[in-house]
Amino acid sequence: MTQQFKPNILIIDDEASICESLQDILQDEGYNALTAPNGEAGIRCVASEQIDLVFLDILMPGGFDGLETLRRIKQISPDTEVIMITGHGTFELALEAGSMGALDFLGKPLSLHIILNKVAEVIQKVERRNTRIAEESGDFERPIIGTSQQIQEILTKIRQVAPTNGRVLITGESGTGKELVAYAIHQLSPRHKAAFVKVNCAAIPQDLIESELFGHERGAFTGALARRLGKFEQADGGTIFLDEIADMSPSTQAKVLRVLEEQEFERVGGGQTIHVDVRVVSATNKDLQEEIQSDNFREDLYYRLNVVPLHMLPLRERVTDLPLLIEHFLSRFCGENQKPNMTIHENVLKVLNGYSWPGNVRELRNMVERLVILCPRETIEVGDLPPELNRSVDPSQIDTETPLREAKNEFEHRFIRNCLETNDWNITETAKQLGIERTNLHRKMRQYDIKR
Ligand SMILES: Nc1ncnc2c1ncn2[C@@H]1O[C@H](COP(=O)(O)OP(=O)(O)OP(=O)(O)O)[C@@H](O)[C@H]1O
Ligand SMILES: [Mg+2]
Repeated sequence: MTQQFKPNILIIDDEASICESLQDILQDEGYNALTAPNGEAGIRCVASEQIDLVFLDILMPGGFDGLETLRRIKQISPDTEVIMITGHGTFELALEAGSMGALDFLGKPLSLHIILNKVAEVIQKVERRNTRIAEESGDFERPIIGTSQQIQEILTKIRQVAPTNGRVLITGESGTGKELVAYAIHQLSPRHKAAFVKVNCAAIPQDLIESELFGHERGAFTGALARRLGKFEQADGGTIFLDEIADMSPSTQAKVLRVLEEQEFERVGGGQTIHVDVRVVSATNKDLQEEIQSDNFREDLYYRLNVVPLHMLPLRERVTDLPLLIEHFLSRFCGENQKPNMTIHENVLKVLNGYSWPGNVRELRNMVERLVILCPRETIEVGDLPPELNRSVDPSQIDTETPLREAKNEFEHRFIRNCLETNDWNITETAKQLGIERTNLHRKMRQYDIKR
């Protein structure tokens, strides 16, 4: 089960007792809290992890003092919020830290109340920023919806990589939103005014894919009646999205590798070398490591494409996203179909939470669209769901703690124990008496923790 967005907080202080007590408090509140004993260690941590908030001591022995550490943190990760803490706060220091981007300045001894208020304030700020990206990430048609920690982290990474030219490889099952993420990266990048060109490597016949990617000259092959620009040329100055990359033939892989290394290629049937400035984002729902093992995918190409990996979790592993996604699709399809706003019964959500979603968000989207069109009532109920979901309804998922179930379990527990005692804990005899398999009896003993 996933939770809501959980910020990562780092405490940098040479006083171990401050680090420990602050860490305990923050962890008790459910936050991830890391500690570092000096500026250098803190900077390394900010460089390697996504840190949302730093509590930074201003006076520390060793290489970097608080202000120098602050300066470097802001260089590496401008969006990380920093709150300075010190036993000897002066107005000048506070002013200087503020001018360098620190959010606030707290004096020791630290007040629990103030600390928690500050953390809450920063979380709100980070969430607002992430929602803004979600809204900016594409025209209004294509926002990335989700409150789970996983989606929030994806949004943060999108914001980090979008302004760069770093190549991004997006992995994840079908329908998890890989294309949506690729598009958001393009939209938030300085390349957004140029083209976002998508190539589905699986859909194009192998003998045409090179011409599709690199273009061809007139007469290059039978049917090549005129010169045609390939996708790489169309994407010049923009982003090319190579989808389903595991399905490229070995010869195409070799040619793509060369474009990545040299940013140049030739059209099919042409001698002229063409230079392009293209940012490459790729995606696959296959396990590329496995494809490499079985010699279907070049390892060198994998490393070139996979500079920044982004993995989309399947929907069943982030079901906390369901309510917002359902609301989003309901309002969208009710609008499109001129229907009054519909809602779902709370039991529907319980069923959807327990479903495995093999088609992920795409499956959910299509299901909601169908329900909006077909359901005559304003509230969708469990009975309206398609059969594959109705079948997956396990009554125990809807209500695990009914008094009847509890009573049955309690009775079964005592009954089995009594039988075991009467048979002097002989499993074979007890199973025979109960009329069940021995393995089944073992399972039940484990379930009820029945021991001699
Ligand atoms: N987090 C999300 N918020 C809103 N819509 C989403 C989200 N994730 C996916 N979708 C929607 O679900 C559908 C499938 O998403 P997308 O095409 O990006 O998936 P994909 O991972 O590229 O799938 P495939 O591997 O099958 O190509 C799209 O209609 C997309 O808009
Ligand atoms: Mg896709």
